[in-house]
Amino acid sequence: MSVAEKLIPNVLLEHWREIKEPSVIHDVDKCLVANTAFMELFGITRHEAVSDMFMAQFISPWPSYHLRLGVRQALGRSIDGKEFDIEVICLPFYSSDDGILYQSIIRDITRLKLWEDKMLQSERLTAMGKLAGEIAHEINNPLGGILLYANLVKEDLTKDHEASVNLEKIIKLATKCRIIAKGLLNFGRSSSRSYAPVDLNHIITDMFALIEDHKLFSGVKTKFILESELPHLMGDRGQLEQVIINLLINAAEAVNGKGSIHVTTRSQGLRSNVELIVDDSGPGISEDLQLKIFEPFFTTKHHRGGTGLGLSITHGIVQRHGGKITVESSPLGGARFRISLPLDGAYSSGS
Ligand SMILES: Nc1ncnc2c1ncn2[C@@H]1O[C@H](COP(=O)(O)OP(=O)(O)OP(=O)(O)O)[C@@H](O)[C@H]1O
Ligand SMILES: [Mg+2]
Repeated sequence: MSVAEKLIPNVLLEHWREIKEPSVIHDVDKCLVANTAFMELFGITRHEAVSDMFMAQFISPWPSYHLRLGVRQALGRSIDGKEFDIEVICLPFYSSDDGILYQSIIRDITRLKLWEDKMLQSERLTAMGKLAGEIAHEINNPLGGILLYANLVKEDLTKDHEASVNLEKIIKLATKCRIIAKGLLNFGRSSSRSYAPVDLNHIITDMFALIEDHKLFSGVKTKFILESELPHLMGDRGQLEQVIINLLINAAEAVNGKGSIHVTTRSQGLRSNVELIVDDSGPGISEDLQLKIFEPFFTTKHHRGGTGLGLSITHGIVQRHGGKITVESSPLGGARFRISLPLDGAYSSGS
């Protein structure tokens, strides 16, 4: 007879055993009996082993002699040392001559936490986007002035004037800043909202025709798997062009002149969404980086003048179309960017 069976009336134990969720009966800090779901969650293989164990082995923090009744979040630790987020509900269970016994029901909340992190990330992106848009707006006007006056001075100078080389540099750099500011403005808010039915396949082929001669693509094998009769979606063609260009250029930069890029389109659901997938055979993106790449100014391409705006702008555009963009590992070995766009999301997203 186990310790639990000695202390607790059988009928109570039988009832407790009907609990499907991971559950354990314990005194202030020692386990007495656990159900199968609890054992599976924490990787315990023998029922008898449970009565030799302490709650602190599985639930951290578990301050001894200071049991916290009610609901709380903690860290679960399985027998093999794996840690995961849990919610613990600890309640009094039974009172005997040896003292009070308690039961704790455990919920694995790893997925919930992950989802919360994603929500936070998305809120942060929205806030940063708004801020970035406002800053860009402030910068855009003085930059226009700088360019205007620099061009006026240039007109007054003869071509061989020694200052004109430097002036040319000023104009070039200020123009680059303006392009960045314009990109940010687009990211922060939709500047031109001209939604019309667009064919994503056409945009892809048109955009690729524009950039395929670029040296970035010269040694790259590209494959287009475009669903024929892909449904049209209500979208802003100019913005969607930007999305395609950003993803294609990122993929080409990732494969660095040699490798493969596959672009796939297909309809989803009952033709209520279209999906765009861009795969590459580059080095891929580590899980740590996957959380950061959509943030404005995040770049690993300082050496080649990357602004880190491509994906944040892309994210903003997809959101304005009521869609979703995700990144994962590609079957080609590199990164896979997956965009899902509802056919009429531009209206229902409230933008
Ligand atoms: N296909 C990809 N493979 C591997 N890493 C990628 C890929 N696409 C994006 N990244 C990573 O995400 C980062 C952010 O991309 P993003 O397009 O926003 O900026 P960027 O490409 O660095 O700069 P810019 O777009 O201004 O040239 C990149 O610096 C790179 O580290
Ligand atoms: Mg880029």
